[in-house]
Amino acid sequence: MSDRTLIVGNWKMNLNTSEASVLLHRLEERIKAHQDIEVVLAPSTLVIQPLSLQIDRHKFRLAAQNAFFKDEGPFTGEVSFTQLRDLVHYVIIGHSERRLHFEESLGIVRDKVAASFRNDIIPILCVGETQSERRAGETRQVLHDQVTSALSNLTANEVEDMVIAYEPVWAISTFGGILAKPDEVKKEMDFIRHQVRELYGAKAAKRVRVLYGGSVDDQIVGGYLEIDGCDGVLVGAASLNYHKFAGIVDRAYHINRQPKEKPNEPDEK
Ligand code: 13P
Repeated sequence: MSDRTLIVGNWKMNLNTSEASVLLHRLEERIKAHQDIEVVLAPSTLVIQPLSLQIDRHKFRLAAQNAFFKDEGPFTGEVSFTQLRDLVHYVIIGHSERRLHFEESLGIVRDKVAASFRNDIIPILCVGETQSERRAGETRQVLHDQVTSALSNLTANEVEDMVIAYEPVWAISTFGGILAKPDEVKKEMDFIRHQVRELYGAKAAKRVRVLYGGSVDDQIVGGYLEIDGCDGVLVGAASLNYHKFAGIVDRAYHINRQPKEKPNEPDEK
């Protein structure tokens, strides 16, 4: 767990090796290292190795977008957490694109979270409801099922270290891109923490980092970062544009510098 604002760029299946290197170079020119902000880049698996040699580790950490839950063996085409463990700090697990396009079940996501901890990689677990689930009033049930199954068999210490990203599928730019209102997002983030508290207690619920993702860019990121209990953002399309992604980091920096509102103190009698 950390008090730093976490900004994660998910490049998805974009950029070849040289394009990824150019984007990293531009980001390194534009983004300064800030003590209270952690910036994580999640490129495609193909380019993790070359970027790991180029990256300025004072500024950025690397994440994988996926990995397979077995550590080694006859699984043609897969890359394991074990193979990634010295290259990345985080792995994104259970992204809606994997749940929907690759039919990743609750059980597979749970096994990937366990494999991630087994290999000393911090999972960024993605949860979120589809538009039809939302319309059917099933959001809480979906979040409950996704959180409780993914977190089964963990220790409270592991849960404290992990990251959960609330990404309503209908808000993701390529799935519809409807902008979620920060007050609605806050309710679901609170619900996610509530689930963690039920399973692992108040300390884990307080320490687990909860992010928001869904069409976040430099113009609207402030509304989400200002949510009480929001530890950062998971950014898709805007993370491929260095102006926008650097703008998101700038915004986080300025928000962190705003004086925090003091809680009302009881009048002294
Ligand atoms: P967009 O920011 O493009 O909506 O993508 C969000 C996302 O899926 C990040 O993982």
